[in-house]
Amino acid sequence: MTSPTTTTSRTDRTPYAIEAYGLTKSYGKPAVRVLDGIGLRVGHGSVFALLGPNGAGKTTAVRILATLTAADSGTARVAGHDVVAGRSAVRRAISLTGQFAAVDETQTGEENLRMMARLTGLSRADARRRAGELLERFGLTDAARRPARTYSGGMRRRLDLAAGLVGSPEPGVFFLDEPTTGLDPRSRQELWEVVRGLAERGASVLLTTQYLEEADRLADRIALLNKGRIAAEGTAAGLKGRIAGHRLDAVLTSGEAYLRLVGRAVHHSPETLTLGLPTDGSAAHVRALLDEIDPAGIEIDRFTLHSATLDDVFLALTSEVPAHV
Ligand SMILES: Nc1ncnc2c1ncn2[C@@H]1O[C@H](COP(=O)(O)OP(=O)(O)O)[C@@H](O)[C@H]1O
Ligand SMILES: [Mg+2]
Repeated sequence: MTSPTTTTSRTDRTPYAIEAYGLTKSYGKPAVRVLDGIGLRVGHGSVFALLGPNGAGKTTAVRILATLTAADSGTARVAGHDVVAGRSAVRRAISLTGQFAAVDETQTGEENLRMMARLTGLSRADARRRAGELLERFGLTDAARRPARTYSGGMRRRLDLAAGLVGSPEPGVFFLDEPTTGLDPRSRQELWEVVRGLAERGASVLLTTQYLEEADRLADRIALLNKGRIAAEGTAAGLKGRIAGHRLDAVLTSGEAYLRLVGRAVHHSPETLTLGLPTDGSAAHVRALLDEIDPAGIEIDRFTLHSATLDDVFLALTSEVPAHV
């Protein structure tokens, strides 16, 4: 535990930028458990995705780690500080998009950043330099002189990120709660690059997402949050490896065959009579699987084979369809 009276900085090295143990949180009366004892560890300079459907508890977890709300039980440390005892030290070390950054819509991106930099105590010249640096880094140089209200969703989020960086010592710890929800594909790509860039500079990023693809592309480690519990945690490859690794999608010739086999499938599509069956992808296993499920050779019309996706992992581990698919 860090004493709250000690002025500590990010030179306090712990193995993890963020670590949480047994966090629980309930809301309402009668109490509904929103977090049911979650633990997670985020290494320095890495991107960690908390992946889950709507209502899974992602925002609640982020709010606890960012000291905006208290857990009912459990402990967490961020940048080496306990989130309760070292609350203000945690706040100085973190950046939470869209929360601490108070972007003024009527001012330009540049004016916003310069003003924020001045508020953190930088001289006029240093504030201008810092604003210029951040605009450049977040691809906003061309839009620097336009009022923030004219920014697209993606630009606005990048400005939020830049604003969060103005005052915080880098590399820092970032909490990005569904940073790409509602963005068009191109803006999403741009934000992914920004997030990767943060981690490359040594920042630690915890982001939440409902998109399996986003977690897969961006995160070093992924935790699947479902109904307040971590259903699985690991690298994207590791999670995919926890199910069979490949999926054979068989298009069946009849509804009877579909119903007979549906129980063993990890993926179902009744409209097309298609079932996804786990396999290791080897010729031997695929041949054996086809022979086993369709000994007479009449019930499978055709099949495709592909690597397991995070969707498959999610379905296999939670038996639920994520909200967005
Ligand atoms: N302040 C609150 N008061 C009451 N219920 C809440 C509050 N915040 C969140 N919840 C409930 O907790 C559950 C999880 O919410 P949240 O953490 O926002 O999930 P997510 O971010 O994964 O969508 C939801 O059912 C939500 O309605
Ligand atoms: Mg949320």
